[in-house]
Amino acid sequence: MYVLAHLSDPHLGPMPEARITEFVGKRFFGLMNWIGARRRRFGEATLTPLIEDILAQAPDHVCVTGDLVNVSLPAEFDTAATFLSSLGEPANVSVVPGNHDTYVRSTMHYHLEHWAPFLAGDVAHPDTPLDVESFPFVRRRGPVAVVGVSTAIPTNIFLASGEVGPHQLDRLRAQLLTLRQEGRFRAVMIHHPPVGKRPFFRDLRDSAAFRAVLAETGAELVMHGHEHRACLGEIPGADGPIPVVGVPSASAGPNAEKGAGAYYLYRISGTAGDWRCEMEVRGYAPGDSAVRLRSSRILTGKDADR
Ligand SMILES: [Fe+2]
Ligand SMILES: [Fe+2]
Repeated sequence: MYVLAHLSDPHLGPMPEARITEFVGKRFFGLMNWIGARRRRFGEATLTPLIEDILAQAPDHVCVTGDLVNVSLPAEFDTAATFLSSLGEPANVSVVPGNHDTYVRSTMHYHLEHWAPFLAGDVAHPDTPLDVESFPFVRRRGPVAVVGVSTAIPTNIFLASGEVGPHQLDRLRAQLLTLRQEGRFRAVMIHHPPVGKRPFFRDLRDSAAFRAVLAETGAELVMHGHEHRACLGEIPGADGPIPVVGVPSASAGPNAEKGAGAYYLYRISGTAGDWRCEMEVRGYAPGDSAVRLRSSRILTGKDADR
C-alpha cells in the first residue's frame, strides 16, 4: 500500500510587509481581493489543524497543486518554502505552481528558486538551476511516479488562466509512455483543471491538447486545484478512464462558500493493469470545525464506485 496526500490552494497568509511601489498593477487588485475576501475565509486557524491531521496520517508522499501564495511578493515564497518543509522532507513533498505563484512577470522564476528541492525531478542536477524546461518533473517513489506539470504563465490583469505549452506536452507524452513501460502508477499533478467548463479567464488554454496526450498514453490519476471546490471528472485513457480529482482549498474553513477545507488521501495498491486506488476525503464540514474523515470512494479497481 502506498499513500499519497493531496492538498491545494493554501493561499498562505499573512501578507508580508511590502513597499507601496510593489503594489502596482495586477498586484494591487490581488491585494484588494485578498483583503476583501481571502482574509476572512482563509487562515492559520483552519490550516494548522488540517496539516496536523495530514502528518498524523503519515502519508508516503504529499502533493501540493499550487496557489501557495497570493500576489507573488518575494517574501511570500519564503513563507511557502517553510510551509512545504512543515509537510515533510523535500524528497517526500512535491509542488507545482499555480497562477497566484506566477502572478507577475518579475517574479515568474521565484517558485523555481525558492521551492527547488520540492520540484526537482529524479534527473535534476543540484548544480543546474531549474527553469521552465524542468517541467514536467518525474519523481519515482515506490510503485508510484509523481509527474508535475506546470501551467504557470504570467497573465494580464484580471486573468487567472494557465497553459501547458507544446514543448511540455511533448515531454509529458514521452515520460508517461516510459513510466507505463515501467509499470508505475502515474500520478499527474497540475494546478488548472484539465476537464470541465469555466470562463476563459480562469481556464487552461490548451486543456484539449493535454487531454489528447493523456488519452494516448494513459495515466492512473490526475490531481488538480484552482477551483477551491471538490471536483471529480475523468479523461478516457489508453488503459481505461483516468480519474481527475480537484480538492477544496486547504485554508478554507468549515463554512466556506465553495466547500469546506479538505485534503485527500489516495491509498494505492496492486500492480500495473490491476491497480486499486481508494480516495479518502479528510477535513471540515459545514458547522463542524473538527478535521476528520468525511467520505471515501474507490476511484480505480474492480470494485470502483462509478
Ligand atoms: Fe487558488
Ligand atoms: Fe488558481
